[in-house]
Amino acid sequence: MLIPADAIQERLAVMARQIDEDYADLDDTLLLVGVLKGAFVIMADLARYISIPNSVDFMAVSSYGSSTRSSGVVRILKDLDTEIEGRHVLIVEDIIDSGLTLDYLVHNLESRGPASVEIVTLLAKPDRRRVEMPVRYIGFEVPDVFVVGYGLDFDERYRNLSCIATLKPEVYGEA
Ligand code: PRP
Repeated sequence: MLIPADAIQERLAVMARQIDEDYADLDDTLLLVGVLKGAFVIMADLARYISIPNSVDFMAVSSYGSSTRSSGVVRILKDLDTEIEGRHVLIVEDIIDSGLTLDYLVHNLESRGPASVEIVTLLAKPDRRRVEMPVRYIGFEVPDVFVVGYGLDFDERYRNLSCIATLKPEVYGEA
């Protein structure tokens, strides 16, 4: 166990209050954009903690493969359902690792003419970051260990854990 469920919920509530304050004067709804699959859990909780009017949409992306992942080129498997020109967009992520996925997404969304694009993530691994970008809301910084739960998987398992846990190395085959 790295982060217990109640600590996650408390942190999300604090982050949501900050988001409420920061976007208090919007004429439009705040658009929360979740990045599938991992973000489905934080999206469900955060959208309910946020009090200001908000809408949700999702994108699904995939890297082209391990050799090109380093280039940060990702393929959009599912795009937004809505136009975002003039909208305030808040990207919702479960974790920022190298930052390559978000670097691509931020540039892609900014090219569509939104009023703003910001990022909220539950977890960040600062030791793994390869691309610097401003991340407005970070729940917890974690060390470079294999984390699962709260949307994060190992081979599609453990996404449904309410806490963040680490995997023993023998589970993922590096023992
Ligand atoms: C994870 C996570 C981010 C990305 C972060 O998704 O949800 O989208 O990796 O990594 P990066 O900062 O190095 O780009 P993953 O590709 O594991 O897909 P999933 O959400 O479907 O599990």
